[in-house]
Amino acid sequence: AAGTEVDFVLFGALGDLSQRKLYPALYHLERENLLATSTRLLGVARQDESLDGFKSRVESALKQYVPGEELDRASLKRFLTRLDYRCLDATQPEGYAEIREWRQGAGERPMVIYLAVGASLYGDICRYLQDSGSLDERSRVVVEKPIGYDLESSAEINDAIGAVFPESRIYRIDHYLGKETVQNLIALRFANPLFGTQWNQSHISHVEITVAEKVGIEGRWGYFDQAGQLRDMVQNHLLQLICLIAMDPPANLDADAIRDEKVKVLKALKPFTDDMLGRDVVRGQYIAGTSDGVNVPGYLEEPDANTESHTETFVAMKAEVSNWRWAGVPFYLRTGKRMPEKLSQIVIHFRQQPHYIFDPDQRALAANKLVIRLQPDEGIALQVLTKDSGLDKGMRLRPGPLHLDFNSAFSKTRIPDAYERLLLEVMKGQQYLFVRRDEVEHAWKWCDSLINAWRERDELPRRYPAGSWGPVASIAMITQDGRSWYEDY
Ligand code: BG6
Repeated sequence: AAGTEVDFVLFGALGDLSQRKLYPALYHLERENLLATSTRLLGVARQDESLDGFKSRVESALKQYVPGEELDRASLKRFLTRLDYRCLDATQPEGYAEIREWRQGAGERPMVIYLAVGASLYGDICRYLQDSGSLDERSRVVVEKPIGYDLESSAEINDAIGAVFPESRIYRIDHYLGKETVQNLIALRFANPLFGTQWNQSHISHVEITVAEKVGIEGRWGYFDQAGQLRDMVQNHLLQLICLIAMDPPANLDADAIRDEKVKVLKALKPFTDDMLGRDVVRGQYIAGTSDGVNVPGYLEEPDANTESHTETFVAMKAEVSNWRWAGVPFYLRTGKRMPEKLSQIVIHFRQQPHYIFDPDQRALAANKLVIRLQPDEGIALQVLTKDSGLDKGMRLRPGPLHLDFNSAFSKTRIPDAYERLLLEVMKGQQYLFVRRDEVEHAWKWCDSLINAWRERDELPRRYPAGSWGPVASIAMITQDGRSWYEDY
């Protein structure tokens, strides 16, 4: 088969991320013939488990998370034969010799170590791998967010990883960077002169980013309550989206060329001042409500909840990138749990024409919008104004989309999940879809200033019923500027 040869060593092999995302992604790569024949995967976890037991767990994860019509016997069988398993307590150095032994005979295949475990273990695992002689100068490490809790703790974790691996072999995942439409931001902006020339404050009035989730906390209360929506979603995914929307054109598609430009955006994010906090930032927490017509509990009533928690499950804010290209263009962001639907989209609002000649009552229509939909129904729609047809309509305008629906436009190809693409890039040794250390740290710096200001003000989050679009204040935040959240598509 085609594909770059590697060996995977997966820590957290029985965990949730592995089951929901990593095995399905690797299975799809198998099915597409993108795994080299020699590639193997060693699952590592603390539980005592036989190889057959491990294989059957992986098989049931695949049956649960891969649609039946995509699960074919032959690919499944090929995939399962690649697997091996070791029971190992990652916090104790003793067991790591097993990994070195497993690698014997691997020849030239580089080892990809995937840490699907809590970040507090990253440092120990890297060190013990090194001390046990399991690594060589081609070994790569893949780490998941959250990397730390603030700038200081993230620097500690990054130091610990960096003591073993050079930056060029560290792959920090932000799975939003693997999403099809997110990658399309780069193609759209830098391949199309039409957008390239318009992409600045002279032509764009404001940008909206919504990342709404229907789910609540789903048994993750312990983690989530320490984090909150700002750390869980904004510090990484939403800021990455802002970077890709706002960055200057990179000189080429090399990882560092792109990441240098992203860092400039993060550095240009305007820090929040005290008067902005009351006006331009809204923290929310959901109370009981409904989801798809079913009653659901509030955040404080979820299993294991600390009933006094002030953690936010929703945040909306008006951010600004203070540089030549974006001065004065608000970036309105909102993201929350227990919203009415799962919807992630970016809306670029273009400015109106300098002089308006159509019906005065249609004036509010008079601007183009570019809607970039990440999920569901990935696609891009450009709202343009045309003349309404019909003899009696005169020069009435009609807004309508120039619409590219990825599913129907590329109907033969299924849209791969983010993790498939990310794993493929790790195998190829390409880093442009991964987050560099300075990106993580500048993102933390900006979020920390907000978190510290919140702590000083010690305000309760605003309540919103589950199944709503967040606190009323988040609507007021945008209407105070004479705008509204865009809900059509
Ligand atoms: C994760 C967050 O990073 O992203 C989760 O920790 C969130 O809280 C998830 O649910 C959302 O990812 P997606 O791909 O479903 O939008």
